[in-house]
Amino acid sequence: MQKKHYLCSLIMVTTDLHAELDRLSVSYGADRMVVLVAASVAPVWQKFFSDRFRVLVLADGEENKSLDTLQRVWDFLFEADITRSGLLLCVGGGTVTDLGGLAAATYKRGIHYINIPTTLLAMVDAAVGGKTGINYRGLKNAVGAFYPPVETIVWPEWLSTLPAEQLLSGFAEMLKTGLLADGQKIPQAEGLWQRLMQYDMERMDPTELTPLIADCIAVKQYIVTADPSETGLRKTLNLGHTFGHALEETAFAETKNGAQTGLLHGHAVLYGLIAELYLSHTLLGCEREALQQLTQRMIHYYGRPACKCTDRERIIRLMHQDKKNERATEINCTLLRSTGHPVINQIITDAQADEALEYLFSL
Ligand SMILES: NC(=O)c1ccc[n+]([C@@H]2O[C@H](COP(=O)([O-])OP(=O)(O)OC[C@H]3O[C@@H](n4cnc5c(N)ncnc54)[C@H](O)[C@@H]3O)[C@@H](O)[C@H]2O)c1
Ligand SMILES: [Zn+2]
Repeated sequence: MQKKHYLCSLIMVTTDLHAELDRLSVSYGADRMVVLVAASVAPVWQKFFSDRFRVLVLADGEENKSLDTLQRVWDFLFEADITRSGLLLCVGGGTVTDLGGLAAATYKRGIHYINIPTTLLAMVDAAVGGKTGINYRGLKNAVGAFYPPVETIVWPEWLSTLPAEQLLSGFAEMLKTGLLADGQKIPQAEGLWQRLMQYDMERMDPTELTPLIADCIAVKQYIVTADPSETGLRKTLNLGHTFGHALEETAFAETKNGAQTGLLHGHAVLYGLIAELYLSHTLLGCEREALQQLTQRMIHYYGRPACKCTDRERIIRLMHQDKKNERATEINCTLLRSTGHPVINQIITDAQADEALEYLFSL
């Protein structure tokens, strides 16, 4: 049953969001549809929706992916008298689509919802695949459900207002997709890594990015359809994330004027990819070229990660706590045998992890 739902989940990339909203109004009825809109896009786009549907504007950002906000959404759905045949549209970045998806999963034991992602990261990752959730007791995504949207509608025009740092953060997840999928038997993955390498990241123009976005989504959709509950193939999507998650909590970036800021998720994943490609090369003989290409992009666009020496121990401690581990003493990574050939459940030692971090911080 659940599997069938995944197969039915429709993803489209469109240049005409108005036409899609018209279509949905006809099939669901505008009075049975309600919308969550991220505050970051509301000033420009709220009217797009509020002329037709009831709208709740949600403060976006990680701290709002909370039980309090979830409760506000439940109240909004009750006050709008949404029945089990109603529809919730979630318009925003991954924080809004994750939380909105969980609200839809739990309200009256589940109503239909549609994701309309407004960040690059949400388009290629968060809004696809049906993982929903909120943060709880200080833990990211501690409470959630596998509950796929009936559709994900990608309108690249949103990206015209997205800050450059956020575009880079999303692009890192696309680089991950290219690395792990290129060469697999997925038509859209054909040559994906090279096409990403050839893309001029200086431009980040929504129209030019659209074919690459569509192909990265197709790859993720293929993988989550084949393995919805993450028993095997889906774990390959964790490439870069064992180191990435630990770096996200520990490292910081230095801005051009020397100030320090926390790492965005995608930036941390990019650094994680470099550490894991280093291990893929030293432990599994993966070609060095991909590591060199990625390092060059890192230095040019993302900057180097900053970290105190003592942080290496903390990063390794955090990797021991990763939820992929069977035992707390392990560090479990997805590595690459070569581009397009990921291998899951690779257990690495603390010394190997430390060597990869030393490499990353020496760049
Ligand atoms: N469910 C999944 O499979 C999955 C996968 C990856 C990430 N996630 C989750 O996604 C979240 C991160 O997603 P995100 O990076 O989209 O974060 P986000 O929702 O916080 O958005 C990032 C920033 O972009 C701003 N923003 C959004 N759209 C904009 C637009 N069009 N123009 C200008 N500004 C805009 C927001 O104000 C916010 O500050 C995390 O909570 C993460 O756990 C989930
Ligand atoms: Zn990620």
